[in-house]
Amino acid sequence: MKETINQSKLLTPKTLFLSLIILSFFFLIFLSQQSRKSMQKPISGNPTPTSNLDLKIRPGYNSYDTYIHHQLKKTTNPKLRKIWTTRDWDRKIQVFQQFFNNLKQENLLSNSSKALCVGARVGQEVEALKRVGVNDSIGLDLVPYPPNVIKGDFHHQPFNDTTFDFEFSNVFDHALYPDRFVGEIERTLKPGGICVLHVAVSRRSDKYSANDLYSIEPLKKLFNGSEMVRSRKVDGFGLDTEVVFRKKEI
Ligand SMILES: C[S@@+](CC[C@H](N)C(=O)[O-])C[C@H]1O[C@@H](n2cnc3c(N)ncnc32)[C@H](O)[C@@H]1O
Ligand SMILES: *[C@@H]1O[C@H](CO)[C@@H](O)[C@H](O)[C@H]1NC(C)=O
Ligand SMILES: *[C@@H]1O[C@H](CO)[C@@H](O)[C@H](O)[C@H]1NC(C)=O
Ligand SMILES: *[C@@H]1O[C@H](CO)[C@@H](O)[C@H](O)[C@H]1NC(C)=O
Ligand SMILES: *[C@@H]1O[C@H](CO)[C@@H](O)[C@H](O)[C@H]1NC(C)=O
Repeated sequence: MKETINQSKLLTPKTLFLSLIILSFFFLIFLSQQSRKSMQKPISGNPTPTSNLDLKIRPGYNSYDTYIHHQLKKTTNPKLRKIWTTRDWDRKIQVFQQFFNNLKQENLLSNSSKALCVGARVGQEVEALKRVGVNDSIGLDLVPYPPNVIKGDFHHQPFNDTTFDFEFSNVFDHALYPDRFVGEIERTLKPGGICVLHVAVSRRSDKYSANDLYSIEPLKKLFNGSEMVRSRKVDGFGLDTEVVFRKKEI
């Protein structure tokens, strides 16, 4: 008897309304979990999750398409492309030339190197390589910019194994799958080949970044087929650290 009275008290319109709100809250949480699970990966296989506190993948990319679409938004902007290829063109090339000349002096790069720039956009770094004498250089980006930049995804480079002597990239922060970004570089480098990354560790990168890096330790872990040659502070268009890896000979 007591119980039925309690029950009818519980089922007032007010409590009914409240439980509906609580229920829909949990339903929304469930839905967001599901959409995360269905996130499509571009290549089959199960990459080892990058569970490192110093490398965080940004949330909010609900599918690989969302990620690519976000990356393309800025890269395809006609007004920006105009600026990059006119006002910014030479200024940026000159800075890249200094970086590459330093690497040549350290014997990490030479005129005969076959070189790739990953995420090169309009390819100022490719042009810089050519100007310092590294003629066999090409860039890769989602958007091509002929003849220096060809179209392709750095998570799945359109090159055969052991193709390049040298790879440069300042777009590690744009990688949604850092292990694939690095795995592809190590795959397409020749044994003994050099990879130079410009990354931001002490500053936050931009809103088009897909990950945030808080130290270079995650890079050392990701480059598990290489040894780190050195790292140093640089001033590279908002990126403050240059890290150099050499792919193991065998
Ligand atoms: C910050 S811009 C860097 C441009 C160039 N490296 C420079 O210094 O002028 C990042 C570039 O990465 C490219 N990008 C982003 N995600 C990519 C992906 N998955 N594969 C290839 N390129 C990508 C973008 O299209 C964009 O051109
Ligand atoms: C490399 O190429 C540059 C530019 O063409 C040239 O000035 C330099 O002498 C070359 N270096 C070597 C070692 O051939
Ligand atoms: C590289 O290209 C420059 C300019 O086109 C040319 O002067 C130079 O001889 C080339 N170097 C080699 C090694 O082919
Ligand atoms: C990759 O290698 C295969 C077989 O050796 C060759 O047919 C193909 O043209 C190469 N692809 C590229 C992009 O070099
Ligand atoms: C290197 O790391 C990749 C993923 O980042 C993993 O698939 C691979 O097994 C690792 N290799 C070694 C030798 O640990």
